[in-house]
Amino acid sequence: MTEQTLVLIKPDGVQRGLVGEVIARIERKGLTLAALELRQVSTELASEHYAEHAERPFFGELLEFITSGPVVAMVVAGDRAIPAFRQLAGGTDPVEKATPGTIRGDFGLQTQFNIVHGSDSPESAAREIALWFPSLNS
Ligand code: TYD
Ligand code: MG
Repeated sequence: MTEQTLVLIKPDGVQRGLVGEVIARIERKGLTLAALELRQVSTELASEHYAEHAERPFFGELLEFITSGPVVAMVVAGDRAIPAFRQLAGGTDPVEKATPGTIRGDFGLQTQFNIVHGSDSPESAAREIALWFPSLNS
Protein backbone atom coordinates (compact mmCIF):
# COMPACT_ATOMS: atom_id res chain seq x y z
CA MET A 1 0.00 0.00 0.00
CA THR A 2 1.51 3.29 -1.08
CA GLU A 3 1.14 5.95 1.55
CA GLN A 4 2.05 9.63 1.73
CA THR A 5 3.43 11.56 4.69
CA LEU A 6 4.32 15.20 5.29
CA VAL A 7 7.96 15.70 6.23
CA LEU A 8 9.51 18.98 7.32
CA ILE A 9 13.18 19.78 7.71
CA LYS A 10 12.84 22.40 10.42
CA PRO A 11 14.82 25.67 10.52
CA ASP A 12 17.63 24.08 12.58
CA GLY A 13 18.11 21.33 9.99
CA VAL A 14 18.18 23.79 7.11
CA GLN A 15 20.51 26.17 8.92
CA ARG A 16 22.89 23.38 9.88
CA GLY A 17 23.15 22.13 6.31
CA LEU A 18 21.37 18.84 6.95
CA VAL A 19 18.96 19.00 3.99
CA GLY A 20 21.02 16.67 1.81
CA GLU A 21 21.62 14.29 4.71
CA VAL A 22 17.91 13.99 5.53
CA ILE A 23 16.84 13.59 1.91
CA ALA A 24 19.58 10.97 1.34
CA ARG A 25 18.24 8.92 4.26
CA ILE A 26 14.67 9.16 2.91
CA GLU A 27 15.83 7.99 -0.51
CA ARG A 28 18.07 5.22 0.83
CA LYS A 29 15.12 3.85 2.79
CA GLY A 30 13.32 3.43 -0.54
CA LEU A 31 10.84 6.25 -0.07
CA THR A 32 10.32 8.80 -2.84
CA LEU A 33 9.66 12.53 -3.04
CA ALA A 34 6.23 13.50 -4.35
CA ALA A 35 6.63 17.24 -3.61
CA LEU A 36 9.37 19.44 -2.21
CA GLU A 37 9.58 23.13 -1.42
CA LEU A 38 11.81 25.50 0.57
CA ARG A 39 9.61 28.02 2.28
CA GLN A 40 9.31 30.59 5.03
CA VAL A 41 6.45 29.60 7.34
CA SER A 42 3.86 32.12 8.52
CA THR A 43 2.69 32.07 12.14
CA GLU A 44 -0.76 31.21 10.79
CA LEU A 45 0.46 28.08 8.96
CA ALA A 46 2.63 27.08 11.92
CA SER A 47 -0.27 27.28 14.38
CA GLU A 48 -2.55 25.32 12.04
CA HIS A 49 0.15 22.69 11.59
CA TYR A 50 0.71 22.32 15.35
CA ALA A 51 -2.94 22.94 16.37
CA GLU A 52 -2.98 19.77 18.52
CA HIS A 53 -0.36 21.39 20.77
CA ALA A 54 -2.10 24.78 21.15
CA GLU A 55 -2.62 24.34 24.90
CA ARG A 56 0.86 23.01 25.65
CA PRO A 57 3.35 25.23 27.51
CA PHE A 58 5.90 24.96 24.69
CA PHE A 59 3.47 26.09 21.95
CA GLY A 60 4.69 29.72 21.80
CA GLU A 61 8.34 28.74 21.54
CA LEU A 62 7.47 26.06 18.98
CA LEU A 63 5.79 28.65 16.73
CA GLU A 64 8.66 31.07 17.19
CA PHE A 65 11.16 28.39 16.25
CA ILE A 66 9.32 27.01 13.22
CA THR A 67 8.90 30.53 11.79
CA SER A 68 12.52 31.54 12.55
CA GLY A 69 13.93 30.56 9.15
CA PRO A 70 13.09 28.60 6.03
CA VAL A 71 11.95 24.98 6.26
CA VAL A 72 11.99 22.28 3.61
CA ALA A 73 8.49 20.83 3.25
CA MET A 74 8.09 17.53 1.44
CA VAL A 75 5.50 14.96 0.62
CA VAL A 76 7.23 11.60 0.96
CA ALA A 77 5.65 8.52 -0.57
CA GLY A 78 6.05 4.77 -0.40
CA ASP A 79 5.04 1.57 1.32
CA ARG A 80 4.15 2.43 4.95
CA ALA A 81 5.69 5.88 4.43
CA ILE A 82 4.17 7.30 7.63
CA PRO A 83 5.74 4.87 10.14
CA ALA A 84 8.80 4.43 7.94
CA PHE A 85 9.69 8.11 8.18
CA ARG A 86 8.91 8.19 11.93
CA GLN A 87 11.40 5.32 12.26
CA LEU A 88 14.04 7.28 10.32
CA ALA A 89 13.40 10.39 12.45
CA GLY A 90 13.59 8.68 15.84
CA GLY A 91 11.80 9.69 19.03
CA THR A 92 10.84 13.27 19.86
CA ASP A 93 13.56 13.79 22.48
CA PRO A 94 16.79 13.34 20.50
CA VAL A 95 18.76 12.11 23.51
CA GLU A 96 16.30 10.25 25.74
CA LYS A 97 14.11 8.72 23.01
CA ALA A 98 15.83 8.78 19.62
CA THR A 99 18.50 6.14 19.18
CA PRO A 100 21.78 6.51 17.28
CA GLY A 101 21.24 5.80 13.62
CA THR A 102 18.11 7.94 13.48
CA ILE A 103 18.09 11.53 12.24
CA ARG A 104 17.28 12.97 15.65
CA GLY A 105 19.53 10.50 17.45
CA ASP A 106 22.48 11.32 15.21
CA PHE A 107 22.08 15.09 14.95
CA GLY A 108 19.96 16.43 17.82
CA LEU A 109 20.53 17.47 21.42
CA GLN A 110 17.31 19.24 22.42
CA THR A 111 13.65 18.32 21.97
CA GLN A 112 12.86 21.83 20.81
CA PHE A 113 15.44 21.58 18.02
CA ASN A 114 14.91 18.08 16.72
CA ILE A 115 15.51 18.74 13.00
CA VAL A 116 12.55 17.02 11.37
CA HIS A 117 8.79 16.58 11.50
CA GLY A 118 6.87 13.60 10.15
CA SER A 119 3.11 13.00 10.22
CA ASP A 120 2.10 10.56 12.97
CA SER A 121 -0.99 8.87 11.44
CA PRO A 122 -2.93 8.61 8.17
CA GLU A 123 -5.37 11.25 9.47
CA SER A 124 -2.55 13.67 10.36
CA ALA A 125 -0.83 13.03 7.03
CA ALA A 126 -3.98 13.82 5.04
CA ARG A 127 -4.61 16.98 7.06
CA GLU A 128 -0.99 18.18 6.90
CA ILE A 129 -0.52 17.46 3.18
CA ALA A 130 -3.71 19.40 2.40
CA LEU A 131 -2.47 22.24 4.60
CA TRP A 132 1.06 22.51 3.15
CA PHE A 133 0.38 21.46 -0.45
CA PRO A 134 -3.24 22.41 -1.17
CA SER A 135 -2.72 22.09 -4.91
CA LEU A 136 -1.71 18.42 -4.68
CA ASN A 137 -4.62 16.08 -5.27
CA SER A 138 -3.87 12.83 -3.50
P1 TYD B 1 5.20 16.08 19.20
O1 TYD B 1 4.11 16.06 18.17
O2 TYD B 1 4.89 15.56 20.55
O3 TYD B 1 6.52 15.33 18.68
P2 TYD B 1 6.91 14.76 17.23
O4 TYD B 1 7.55 15.88 16.46
O5 TYD B 1 7.88 13.65 17.52
O6 TYD B 1 5.64 14.27 16.57
O7 TYD B 1 5.71 17.59 19.39
C1 TYD B 1 5.86 18.44 18.28
C2 TYD B 1 7.15 19.21 18.44
O8 TYD B 1 7.03 20.08 19.56
C3 TYD B 1 8.37 18.36 18.73
O9 TYD B 1 8.94 17.82 17.56
C4 TYD B 1 9.27 19.33 19.42
C5 TYD B 1 8.31 20.24 20.17
N1 TYD B 1 8.23 19.88 21.60
C6 TYD B 1 8.87 20.66 22.54
O10 TYD B 1 9.51 21.67 22.19
N2 TYD B 1 8.79 20.31 23.86
C7 TYD B 1 8.11 19.21 24.27
O11 TYD B 1 8.07 18.93 25.49
C8 TYD B 1 7.44 18.40 23.31
C9 TYD B 1 6.68 17.16 23.70
C10 TYD B 1 7.54 18.77 21.97
MG1 MG C 1 3.79 15.15 16.34
